[in-house]
Amino acid sequence: MKKRLTLTVNQEVAKNLVKAKTDCLVVGVNAGSTMNEVASNINKATNGFIKKLIQRGEFEAKVGQSSYIAANEGTSAERIYLIGLGKVSYKLSNEDLDKISSSVTSALMSKKSANAIVCLPSLKFESEDLSLSSLLQKLGKSLESSTYTYDAKLNKKNKKKNYLKKVEISIDTKDSVANLRKSLKTGQVIGQGMNVAKDLANLPGNVCTPTFLANTSKTASRKYPKLSCRVFGEKEMKKMGMDCLLSVGNGSAQESKLISMNYQGGKKGARPYAIVGKGITFDTGGISLKPPPTMDEMKFDMCGAASVIATMQVVSELKLPINLIGIVASAENMPGSKATKPGDVVRTMSGQTVEILNTDAEGRLVLADALTYVERFDPVSVIDIATLTGAVIMALGYSTSGLMSNNRNLAKELLSAGDKASDRAWELPIWDIYQKDLDSNFADIANIGGRAGTITAACFLSRFTEKYPWAHLDVAGTASLKGAAKGGSGRPVPLLCQYLIDKA
Ligand code: BES
Ligand code: MN
Ligand code: ZN
Repeated sequence: MKKRLTLTVNQEVAKNLVKAKTDCLVVGVNAGSTMNEVASNINKATNGFIKKLIQRGEFEAKVGQSSYIAANEGTSAERIYLIGLGKVSYKLSNEDLDKISSSVTSALMSKKSANAIVCLPSLKFESEDLSLSSLLQKLGKSLESSTYTYDAKLNKKNKKKNYLKKVEISIDTKDSVANLRKSLKTGQVIGQGMNVAKDLANLPGNVCTPTFLANTSKTASRKYPKLSCRVFGEKEMKKMGMDCLLSVGNGSAQESKLISMNYQGGKKGARPYAIVGKGITFDTGGISLKPPPTMDEMKFDMCGAASVIATMQVVSELKLPINLIGIVASAENMPGSKATKPGDVVRTMSGQTVEILNTDAEGRLVLADALTYVERFDPVSVIDIATLTGAVIMALGYSTSGLMSNNRNLAKELLSAGDKASDRAWELPIWDIYQKDLDSNFADIANIGGRAGTITAACFLSRFTEKYPWAHLDVAGTASLKGAAKGGSGRPVPLLCQYLIDKA
C-alpha cells in the first residue's frame, strides 16, 4: 500500500503559528464575537482581516465554510484558509465533522501547497462517541484518499502532479496525543486502502484480469507476516464442485480464479470474520449481451473484490487483533461458443441446481460457490460485497449502498459502521415473500425473477448463506463515480474497516 502523505499531530498551539513558515495555514474559526487564540493572533497579524471578512458578511464561520486569504504579509504563511466551526458553544455532529474534514482537505488541495499546518481549537461534540479522535480519523482518510491520482497508463507528460506532501495538525486539547496520532493513522491507512481499491477499479479489463487480481493478492500478502493467500484455478475449482462459478467464465479466454486470503491477527483458533467480493473483471453480460453505451464501466464489476483485497491490507497494516478471511470470486463474463446460454442448468458446490435464465445475472453465480466455500472457516459473520444489480441505483441512487442480511444484529452493526465512517448503506428487506420469484420449472432455483431486482438477487444469495450470519452489500451505485470524476470511489472500504475496527 502506497502512502502519499506525511501526517503529524502536535499540541503546541501556537502563538508562533503566525511566524510558522508553511505553504498553507488552515485555521479553524468560530462564529460570533469570540475568537480563539490562534484566529485572534492571525487576525492581529493581518491587520484585522478576519474580523473584516466577518463584518462584511463574507465569512460567517458556519460549520465547514471556508475562506481563502491571499494577502497575508503579516504572517510567514504563503496562504491562509479559514475554516468555519460554528459558534463556540455549538456541539458538532458526525456530519459536521465530515464537513470540516472535507473542507480542510479541499483547502489543502486547491492550491499548490506542498506542506501545511492545520490548526483547530478545542471543539465540542454532540455525543459521547464523537471526539477529536473521530475528526482526526476522518481527516486522515480524506487527506490521504484525496491525493489519489490515476495515471498508470498515461504518458509522462500527461501525468498530473501531486503537490501536497506533508500536513501537520496542531491541536489545542487535553486529550492524549498518542490516541490522536493513532486515530489519524487509522484514517490514513483506510485512505490508503481506498486508493488500493480505486487503482484496481481503474485498471482496464485487459490488464486487470482474474489472474491479475490473484497475483496482486499474493504480492500484497507477502508484505504482511500474518496475511497469507491461496489461489485456486479452474481445475481445482472443478474438483471442489464449483460448476456454478465456473459457468460464468466459460466464454472467456481468461482463467477464472478463487482467491482465499487469511489474516491471523487474533487468537489461534478464534473464529474469523469473513468478507467475500464479486470479482467480475469485465461484464459484457455474456450471451445476454449488454447494450454498448456505458459498457466500458463494466470494468468496475470487480469493485467488490477490490474492496476485499484493500480491506485485508488495511487490517494487516493496522494489526487488528482479529482473524479475517477474504475471498474473491473472479471471472470474466464473455459471450462465445463455449459460453453459458440462457436456459443452461448448472450444479452449485452446495448441491442445489440453478437455471441460468439470464447470463448477465452472473455475479450471484460466482458468489454462490464462494459463499459455500467460506463455510469451511466457521465464520462469525460473512459479508459479501458486490456490484450486483443496476436496480439498486434505481432504489438508492449513487450515494448509498444496499444492505440485505439474514441477521438483525449484523445488519445494525454494519449500518452504524457505515454512518460512523460516512460510507452509508440502507437496508432492503429479503422477506420470504420474495423467494418464490426464483422458482424454476427446470432446476432448484432460477438466477433471475420478479421485479425487485436487488432484493431477488440477495434472495438468490441467501440460499447459500443459511449456515452463518450473513450480510450482502450491493455497491453497484457507490463503488465507482460517474461523469468527469469517472473512476473507482474506494467504497465500501471505510464501512468494512470501521465494522472490523469496532469488532477488534
Ligand atoms: N454488474 C451488473 C450490475 C451493474 C449494473 C453494476 C450497472 C453497475 C452498474 C450485474 O452483473 C448485472 O448485469 N445485473 C443485471 C441483473 C439482471 C440481468 C437481473 C442488471 O442489474 O441489469
Ligand atoms: Mn451482469
Ligand atoms: Zn456483473
